Amino acid sequence: MHARFGDYEVVAPIASGGMGGVFLATHRTTGDRVALKVLDPMFADHAEVVDRLYAEREVSARASHPGLVEIRAASRSSDDVPFLVMEYLEGETLSSIIERGTVDLETIVTLSAQIASALAAMHDAGITHCDVKPDNLFVLDDGTVKVIDFGVSRLVEEPPPDDSSIAGTPAYMAPEQWRGKPEFATDVYSLGCVMYELLTGNVPFEGSLPELMVAHLDQRPGRISWLRKAVPVELERLVMRALAKAPGLRPQMCEMALALERLAGRSPSATLRMAG
Ligand SMILES: Nc1ncnc2c1ncn2[C@@H]1O[C@H](COP(=O)(O)OP(=O)(O)OP(=O)(O)O)[C@@H](O)[C@H]1O
Ligand SMILES: [Mg+2]
Repeated sequence: MHARFGDYEVVAPIASGGMGGVFLATHRTTGDRVALKVLDPMFADHAEVVDRLYAEREVSARASHPGLVEIRAASRSSDDVPFLVMEYLEGETLSSIIERGTVDLETIVTLSAQIASALAAMHDAGITHCDVKPDNLFVLDDGTVKVIDFGVSRLVEEPPPDDSSIAGTPAYMAPEQWRGKPEFATDVYSLGCVMYELLTGNVPFEGSLPELMVAHLDQRPGRISWLRKAVPVELERLVMRALAKAPGLRPQMCEMALALERLAGRSPSATLRMAG
């Protein structure tokens, strides 16, 4: 790339998506490493797309938590392409981890507790993430996790989107999100889908888009304990409550965080750590 991105020098591409790409970059004088999210130049003059990108920075400014990726700045390159400056994360997405195979129970509970606590901070700030899924959960090399990609996040005071603009990822989408009315509990449901996938190896429902819609609106997912033995009953119950069809029947995100922290504290290795 020949354009200049403020004080940053692009070093290497990290990922590319529909709307642009993410690049590793370094600061020209300090050498600090950052990740730049750069819009595809095709959308540089598309106000709605640019606003969405810049809104990610607003989300980060409002909700700060060690479990939420920090977005430090929003700007335009020398050739006028919008970009974000993010803290650079070293690790891999939860989806790569899931692809490699079974994740142990203790890791599942510890990661889920951190994700819930980060999302609870987001909810406290009045923001719904709206796209909680393994691709948007980034596990750092030290084992801690960061929630990333605020691209479809919504502020509570924003008017609900019109029916034509349902945003999210179908395999993780709550009933009310299919109806175009996301709320905080929508993230609880999506986290429930992620936990179900971590525990069983599969998301609660699979199929075509219409099949997914029917399933998320009306069907019960298969019993977790049939698909994976030795899942503590409290954990299975918590995930099933998170997957309740009615948003009001799900636990709040802060309750999820507390319940998971409690479960994590009771795991054998935590007992070992205390004893050691
Ligand atoms: N701060 C970061 N540090 C390192 N890698 C990152 C960072 N942010 C994002 N990535 C990588 O880039 C990928 C895409 O980021 P993100 O999900 O925010 O972008 P996106 O535009 O929504 O892309 P997609 O449409 O593919 O979801 C992530 O899955 C992750 O692998
Ligand atoms: Mg993403």
